[in-house]
Amino acid sequence: MFSFIHDIPTKVYFGEGMISHLGEELARMGSRILLVYGGGSIKRSGLYDTVVREIRSAGLELHELGGIEPNPRIASVRKGAALCRELGIDAVLAVGGGSVIDAAKFIAAGACVDHDPWDFIDRSKLTPIRKTLPLATVLTLAATGSEMDECGVITNPETNEKLGGHSPLLYPKVSFLDPTLTYSVSPYQTACGAADILSHILETYLDSRPCMDMIDTFMEGLIKTVMRAAPAALKNPCDYNARAELMWASSWAINGFILNGRTRAWSCHPMEHELSAFYDIPHGHGLAIITPRWMDYTLTHGGSCWRYVKLGTDLFGISETHTPMDIARLVIERMRTFFYEELGLSSTLTSLGIGREHLETMARKACGTKGFIDGFALLEPNDVEYIYRKCL
Ligand code: NZQ
Ligand code: ZN
Repeated sequence: MFSFIHDIPTKVYFGEGMISHLGEELARMGSRILLVYGGGSIKRSGLYDTVVREIRSAGLELHELGGIEPNPRIASVRKGAALCRELGIDAVLAVGGGSVIDAAKFIAAGACVDHDPWDFIDRSKLTPIRKTLPLATVLTLAATGSEMDECGVITNPETNEKLGGHSPLLYPKVSFLDPTLTYSVSPYQTACGAADILSHILETYLDSRPCMDMIDTFMEGLIKTVMRAAPAALKNPCDYNARAELMWASSWAINGFILNGRTRAWSCHPMEHELSAFYDIPHGHGLAIITPRWMDYTLTHGGSCWRYVKLGTDLFGISETHTPMDIARLVIERMRTFFYEELGLSSTLTSLGIGREHLETMARKACGTKGFIDGFALLEPNDVEYIYRKCL
């Protein structure tokens, strides 16, 4: 029942100043490096200069591609892959948040083929990834866990699609996690990041397939950590310990360890990816709005209470004298308070400028080619549309 292969091939340098090992690690990967980054936060923080110094002092040749968008676009991936081929790039270095790292993953894969990198992601083709350039990352935002996972999520605005692609070859070879690099993250992005980390854990924890106690306890520890560290980081953005807890939690929430040999069966994520695809909203904020509504709905539509009872009694100290349904409702209320009061995220899609116009289409697309979402409870397009409406 608990058979699985544990293989996370990403080497992590964690802590302040560990970036001093960047040059030596890149030198092992080759001599021509493509530095990929986002809209300029790394220039404003001074990190860009540090990275360039590291690359130059290791005697490596530096090329760069800036301007990767949040919710990264396939056009940027195509541009990066073409640059790699044209310049004979040996390795890709992503410096940024999940968007930059995700784009860099598909740039590294696209560099090794002649076809369009969208073919790796497009559900009608799903061309397997057979080779990638080696990828190094310097993480600047604790959220997605892309720094230590095998997934990337890319947006194609021409088709209004935002889709994830997976391959064991997409794991970064090495990632640098220095909590001080997240001191400059805004309160809003800090909150979105915390909501994303929590969602990765909750979507796994609530899965009622068999799970080891040891991993349940680990997940409860992760949830507790994020719920303590995020408010502390919001209060004091330069709180090293809080930033460190969030950063390491982001990696372990999605790197495969807590899956316990199961395949991912997530629900809120496909629903949120449609919101980002149509409205370009921050992923974590979309999740914070959807999650409590999804919990409410599934509880009375095919989901079971027992995982909530475990979470409520083990983690939140809710008395077992309540009925299981009451415990579940108290857990949901606790999450609502956390997202909307402690993290300060707004609680409705309307607040993000989202109306009714695409709800039906998004619900259908969220259910993918199978026509349903098979997570904590089975959801068909009309269920998903109902949940979206509750989020307005
Ligand atoms: O672009 P720059 O200028 O760097 O600014 C970014 C961006 O505007 C800014 N930022 C990042 N680090 C900063 C900073 N600002 C100040 N100081 C810093 N140190 O924050 C903004 C958001 O960045 P982004 O990378 O978009 O955020 P995040 O890390 O939350 O990534 C979100 C993307 O990852 C995908 C999401 O769907 C979304 O597209 N995901 C990827 C996953 C994966 N690879 O496994 C799983 C997730 O569930 C998620 O779907
Ligand atoms: Zn996520």
